[in-house]
Amino acid sequence: MHHLELRGGGRMPALGLGTWKSDPGVVGDAVREALRIGYRHIDCAPIYGNEAEIGEAFSAAFTAGEVARDELWVTSKLWNHSHRHDDVLPALKQTLSDLRLDYLDLFIIHWPVAHQPGVVFPETPDQFMSLDDVPLAETWAGMEAAVDQGLARHIGVSNFRPGKIDDVLANARIKPAADQVECHPYLAQNELLDYLGTHDMVLTAYSPLGSPDRADQMKKPDEPKPFDEPVTRAIADRLGATPAQVLIAWALHRGTSVIPKSANADRLRQNFDAQHLRLSDEDMAALNGLDRGYRFIDGSFWAPEGSPYTLADLWGA
Ligand code: A2P
Repeated sequence: MHHLELRGGGRMPALGLGTWKSDPGVVGDAVREALRIGYRHIDCAPIYGNEAEIGEAFSAAFTAGEVARDELWVTSKLWNHSHRHDDVLPALKQTLSDLRLDYLDLFIIHWPVAHQPGVVFPETPDQFMSLDDVPLAETWAGMEAAVDQGLARHIGVSNFRPGKIDDVLANARIKPAADQVECHPYLAQNELLDYLGTHDMVLTAYSPLGSPDRADQMKKPDEPKPFDEPVTRAIADRLGATPAQVLIAWALHRGTSVIPKSANADRLRQNFDAQHLRLSDEDMAALNGLDRGYRFIDGSFWAPEGSPYTLADLWGA
């Protein structure tokens, strides 16, 4: 298994398992199966509504001797309603309790977006808080406290563009180690990847398969279909692989971490085996040529009329 070195000394297994949309009743078996297959990086978040079941799976795997805690990399996230300094550690402690862990390997701010305390998803614009009301520096100080207390080995961000990371760095005592963002050949994130490289941060690619199991209201009728993409299919056919494996291998070849989600044993295995797929320079160039800045998760749920957030501010003009 290929690892990425993180600022602060950690080694993140490059290929991990995503758990967004892995439903309660299914996710526990999926995580347990993934651990048996050899996955050693599990990506979680309280907003996915499944951390307690994942915690049961971790606990059962530890007890059965299938994996030890220090062989496992667990990432989780701070939800948008807990951005105030004094809310950060309680939120993390709830996640640790649900996951049945003493510490996270990586704790990241899920979005550079804040809600009023207690508001899981704003239904009216006044249920947001602006970043003037709760600056990222305030949230970051809470994240740093998590490291100080030994509750997180590394801290980072998610869905942050360079300008937002600059805002964190301006006041950071502990610098962010990672940024988790949507990334696949239609959204190669080249500028962000360069920026993260110069700041000694790793990129974790979410929705690497285009997130086909998203709710229909998050989909656009004309969106591209990664599995049907002729360029990807041609490479897959020639290499005796699947399009999903090609997409995962592309992410690994670029030096990013990647967290495809599956709740199916065969596809978990298939995705794990993608780490052995070798893409040529020509294959990589052909896949790189698909970049069109296309977001499957465009963040528009944070930018309704009257919200303090706009898509231009979120992703940059
Ligand atoms: P399933 O969980 O039934 O395997 P993303 O990681 O981009 O969010 O994509 C996750 C979606 O892709 C899920 O619908 C998942 O379905 C599906 N998926 C995961 N691995 C594969 C694969 N190897 N081939 C086809 N579909 C896959």
